[in-house]
Amino acid sequence: MNALLDIRGLTIDIDRDSGPARVVDGIDLTVAEGESLGIVGESGCGKSLTMLSLVGLLPNRIRATGGVADFAGKDLLAMSSEELRRLRGSQIGFIFQDPMTSLNPVMRVGAQIAEALVYQSGMAKPAAMERAAELLELVGIPSPRDRLMAYPHELSGGMRQRVMIAIGLAGSPRLLIADEPTTALDVTIQAQIVDLVRDLKDRFGMSVVWITHDLALIAGLADRIAVLYAGTVVEDSPVDVLFERPTHPYTRGLLASLPTLTDKPMSRLPSIAGTPPEPGRRPPGCPFAPRCALVTAVCTTSVPRLAPVAGSAPGHRAACFVTAGEGAS
Ligand SMILES: Nc1ncnc2c1ncn2[C@@H]1O[C@H](COP(=O)(O)OP(=O)(O)OP(=O)(O)O)[C@@H](O)[C@H]1O
Ligand SMILES: [Mg+2]
Repeated sequence: MNALLDIRGLTIDIDRDSGPARVVDGIDLTVAEGESLGIVGESGCGKSLTMLSLVGLLPNRIRATGGVADFAGKDLLAMSSEELRRLRGSQIGFIFQDPMTSLNPVMRVGAQIAEALVYQSGMAKPAAMERAAELLELVGIPSPRDRLMAYPHELSGGMRQRVMIAIGLAGSPRLLIADEPTTALDVTIQAQIVDLVRDLKDRFGMSVVWITHDLALIAGLADRIAVLYAGTVVEDSPVDVLFERPTHPYTRGLLASLPTLTDKPMSRLPSIAGTPPEPGRRPPGCPFAPRCALVTAVCTTSVPRLAPVAGSAPGHRAACFVTAGEGAS
């Protein structure tokens, strides 16, 4: 499979009054044509900033300072804001939870979708309304023609999220980026939305990047998972291999904190003790070393590189001196 998106050595710095603080520290990620990649990691590890950097939507005073992000043969990080604007929606669709990019409460949903279509593809208004109805149908909204006239507050949370997906899909993107699009919804609706996106991906051969805290949820959608910690990828693996043979101690911790079948619904076991380093305050060696039960001397002085896990399946890589090498535990 060819890579549609190939991110190499991405660094992102926050411009603070005290100087730049590195928040994304050399991320490598690849998404093949038609593939879905799940990205997991604790709050603050740089998931959203990584995705925003690709389409030129980083907040003020936060900049991509290094690396390349090759999308269909062109470096996104080197594109002008005008080129990126054209790419957003047409080639790269988004579903964000951020209120900044969510639905306009005083505009009917049909008009909002049509506006996205007119803006992205220069479609005429009547054709855009027609297409908006098709999109609502595509995302599983009953009586789509009637719903075009609804205001967002007249729809349930799940239906509103489907409208957001319809907007994300409006330009028939080659890549859909979903940044925790379901966290506010109840579990049944979350599962329905994951099923819907998987179905759309299969039908249109779209690639998907899905950011989540919820490893169990993403297991049903992702072909591969990348685990982020403190602005780096610590493990990257086909999804089934990750669950069978989690290798980085941080990934093992994440999996151990998943609820089991015997837990009460929604209960969570305690997560990994300690907190990740603040941006700009990374320890000199492995960023996870201060929290790691398996830490050794080398971990505190050298940074482990993402490398194939000895004896595991192809495409399984981890960045750990202790668990990823030959004869490792
Ligand atoms: N607008 C901002 N101004 C200053 N610092 C920011 C800003 N946005 C993010 N950061 C910093 O960058 C870090 C990474 O942010 P990012 O939003 O990428 O995290 P995330 O992995 O998406 O977390 P979450 O799971 O909570 O969404 C944060 O911990 C925060 O320190
Ligand atoms: Mg985020």
